[in-house]
Amino acid sequence: MSLLEVEDLHASAGGREIVRGVDLRVAGGEVHVVMGPNGSGKSTLAHALMGRPGTTVTSGSIRVDGTELVGLPAWRRARAGLFLALQQPIEVPGVLVEAALEEAVGEDAAGEVPRRLREEAGAIGFDERFLQRALNVDLSGGERKRNEVVQLGVLRPKFAVLDEIDSGLDVDAVRAVARRIERATSEWGLGVLAVTHFHRLLRELRADRVHVLVGGRLVASGGPELAEELERTGYGAYGAEEGAA
Ligand SMILES: Nc1ncnc2c1ncn2[C@@H]1O[C@H](COP(=O)(O)OP(=O)(O)OP(=O)(O)O)[C@@H](O)[C@H]1O
Ligand SMILES: [Mg+2]
Repeated sequence: MSLLEVEDLHASAGGREIVRGVDLRVAGGEVHVVMGPNGSGKSTLAHALMGRPGTTVTSGSIRVDGTELVGLPAWRRARAGLFLALQQPIEVPGVLVEAALEEAVGEDAAGEVPRRLREEAGAIGFDERFLQRALNVDLSGGERKRNEVVQLGVLRPKFAVLDEIDSGLDVDAVRAVARRIERATSEWGLGVLAVTHFHRLLRELRADRVHVLVGGRLVASGGPELAEELERTGYGAYGAEEGAA
């Protein structure tokens, strides 16, 4: 059983501490959800986990199956089994998704990539012609999100951090994407840390735990019912002012 362990993680961006002591344990096959107001540090947490340049871990630990990731470049964290779908996937002109994935999986598995790409695209109704374009170039917002899920399916990481994978997706796409990810949790024991604002993602992607991030700290945790409650009540009860960043 794989294990992602985050211990007392502090991270800063732009010279300011944004993640202020986060503890998490996600086991393989589990789905953990992080919700919280705009500006509470959800994306910064995701960036800190993956080692995105611009975000600095100032203290704490991030381990995948005992391997310490803090201090490692993103590609090494990926090799250790971590995957990040960005809230706003970036364009990489000149690089086909197929080429990027062949490079990522290494020579031995590269031959499988074209077939697996088509399978994964089919699984979420993502048009294969988008696979012929440079990574995320000339794709709509929703198409980019689905492109991330296709890559997730081909790479089969141990853990996926999904930053608002549902934002910008139409209702059918949300369902298809959530189903694909849910299936991955049993197919190869994928562990998921999903950031979302919307409970609807969790209709098909069943959450084991829901955490509330406010001001860079996890202030509450609960079962899936917490996501429904938050959508109804907002974050006022957790000390977040309405409309405040
Ligand atoms: N590089 C940076 N420089 C300065 N401030 C930053 C930087 N990155 C993030 N911040 C600030 O840190 C706070 C947290 O940002 P973050 O993107 O993590 O929020 P979030 O919880 O993901 O919000 P949202 O729900 O809107 O996506 C915000 O106030 C943001 O402006
Ligand atoms: Mg965000």
